[in-house]
Amino acid sequence: MSKMFGFVVRLLILMSFICAGLGCYKCFIDPDDSVRLCWGHILSKYNIRNIDACFKTLDRIFNNNPDVTKAAKVGRGYDTILKEIMRAEIMPIVEEFHQNMNNDTVYEVRLQAAADTFITMATGLPRASGCFPPCGFQAHGTVYNCMTCQYDSCEFPLDCPLQEITVGENNRTQMWCHVPFVLPSDIQIVWRYAEIKTMLMDRFAEVTAGTDKLFSIPLARLEHSGTYQCEIFSQERSLVRIYYHLTVVPYEVVGHAELQDVFEKALLPAGQFLLLPSIPPFSLLRLPSPELLTVCLASLLLLLFLTLGALYWWPSKKMDCEPEQEREPHRNTYTLQTV
Ligand SMILES: *[C@@H]1O[C@H](CO)[C@@H](O)[C@H](O)[C@H]1NC(C)=O
Ligand SMILES: *[C@@H]1O[C@H](CO)[C@@H](O)[C@H](O)[C@H]1NC(C)=O
Repeated sequence: MSKMFGFVVRLLILMSFICAGLGCYKCFIDPDDSVRLCWGHILSKYNIRNIDACFKTLDRIFNNNPDVTKAAKVGRGYDTILKEIMRAEIMPIVEEFHQNMNNDTVYEVRLQAAADTFITMATGLPRASGCFPPCGFQAHGTVYNCMTCQYDSCEFPLDCPLQEITVGENNRTQMWCHVPFVLPSDIQIVWRYAEIKTMLMDRFAEVTAGTDKLFSIPLARLEHSGTYQCEIFSQERSLVRIYYHLTVVPYEVVGHAELQDVFEKALLPAGQFLLLPSIPPFSLLRLPSPELLTVCLASLLLLLFLTLGALYWWPSKKMDCEPEQEREPHRNTYTLQTV
């Protein structure tokens, strides 16, 4: 009967330890080993054996210690090394303490030393790599988490920031559903469209579903303006949502903008370009720059010189022609003949 009672008590203690939440110690050490470790734990204040107090000490030193949890945030695959480090620290103490009485001060000192060694060694392990911000579920770049004894994903939101694109009416535009991280081979891509600028899921209507990463508009019309969303799935699970807000600029505005662009470039010193997203029409009335005025003035002067040159040349040519006519032998002969 007392054996049965002891078993139930032990079970209750184990349950309370397991249910109290997870931590780096609990991820790697069996509950049975913990019971063996805490078997001879003496509360020196009362001089009694108390296993529960020992579990509380373990929680404080390992499981609820943010330094331990932080040190254990290693990259994929390194949880096995974490386990080796933890067991190399704890198991010798388990063997040493089992069936032996030790007071709480001794436990405290030994466990704290074990935790400090764990922190030092775990901190030296490779951290998570291959997380590409700012968005998407990235299973490859993952971080170990002692609070769940599992790997977390890279902890980015599924929704990528909205990107603005502008296209002239009747021109061509393309949108790509590209992500910088590795995707599984079985992906499905859904393109959706919303007339307004939004990232709210219920505003979108599905346009295509398949494996096409490219959405192409060969001839943009004004009614193509709006938000385009591409969502990538793998096995029904959403991995990322990319957003493009497309603005189609009416043809006439495009014409004006291009004219203005040419004008502005002419006014700027070589190598400099103005970025003009929208140009108010009145800016067309701006006065030309001194450089342009100089060029105009020089052209005018050149024209003047040419005119003067022509005026000078014309009579002189006339004078040249007259003797030439006289000197011409055939003419002369003819004249003589006619006379
Ligand atoms: C705990 O045990 C150690 C070693 O046996 C001893 O030196 C120490 O005085 C004890 N501490 C208390 C508070 O009993
Ligand atoms: C049209 O698109 C081409 C390239 O796709 C670009 O070079 C050109 O500037 C665009 N024209 C307008 C009016 O947007």
